[in-house]
Amino acid sequence: GKVRAPTHIISTISDDRGEEPCYAGVPMSSIVEQGLGVGDVISLLWFKRSLPHYCSRFIEICIMLCADHGPCVSGAHNTIVTARAGKDLVSSLVSGLLTIGPRFGGAIDDAARYFKDAYDRGLAPYEFVESMKKKGIRVPGIGHRIKRGDNRDKRVELLQRFAREQFPSVKYMEYAVQVETYTLSKANNLVMNVDGAIGSLFLDLLSGSGMFTKQEIDEIVEIGYLNGLFVLARSIGLIGHTFDQKRLKQPLYRHPWEDVLYTK
Ligand code: ACO
Ligand code: LMR
Repeated sequence: GKVRAPTHIISTISDDRGEEPCYAGVPMSSIVEQGLGVGDVISLLWFKRSLPHYCSRFIEICIMLCADHGPCVSGAHNTIVTARAGKDLVSSLVSGLLTIGPRFGGAIDDAARYFKDAYDRGLAPYEFVESMKKKGIRVPGIGHRIKRGDNRDKRVELLQRFAREQFPSVKYMEYAVQVETYTLSKANNLVMNVDGAIGSLFLDLLSGSGMFTKQEIDEIVEIGYLNGLFVLARSIGLIGHTFDQKRLKQPLYRHPWEDVLYTK
């Protein structure tokens, strides 16, 4: 019989050996001919399946809404400083990407983890928030540097509106909204942020679409796929900031002394 030579790599998402590359078994020509978009490609390469149109559209909306948030946020600031230090595109991009984490843009997975756990355990929103406080953990997906109860984040509203109209169920989102109602009763800065909106709504996408088993949902949440959406999206803006600085021929950045408190 045939003897299979041992391989050093296993790969299951794409195959470039045939006449044309396939993403999760779907040939590239079919992707183009069907008029599919980047949300569908993400569905194939990340989730290894074609998702219903409303799901891939939701993924695309997340990417569009998170593509940039001005020059002052951590990621863009790092990218701008790096580009002004004369570094190349990739260096400027990764310098910005490296700021994505638990405080900035990278709270989506934890928001999904904590909201899922609290909802599935039947915790009332106030019990969840108070239990987090007792543990000394900030609620991921809640809080913003500039958004407030009376100046909400438009991105959150747009995502929620889309899901209310298109998703079969928005139970996790509604839970997150109740969490926000409680946190806002404590302080005006504790609004739901875009990470919290995407985290809770992706739980609804995963559980409501009927496309994933319970075990697959647990794996996606545990591995942490969802920060990838912010990383991918914000790369678009960070690349734009790099080009912008180069186009403007901006000199080396040096922070002004007056803006530093020199103290012993
Ligand atoms: N849960 C509980 N309490 C919070 C939270 C939260 N998520 N966020 C802020 N607070 C409290 C702080 O403990 C602080 O209380 P104190 O004055 O009694 O100490 C008060 O609110 C003000 O906190 P600041 O540190 O001034 O808030 P800041 O503006 O620096 O923080 C941040 C903003 C980092 C987004 C914060 O709200 C946070 O850590 N949130 C959770 C992580 C998260 O969701 N990040 C994603 C943000 S969206 C994005 O980056 C695209
Ligand atoms: C962002 O998307 O970068 C923001 O929500 C963060 C900020 O402080 O504006």
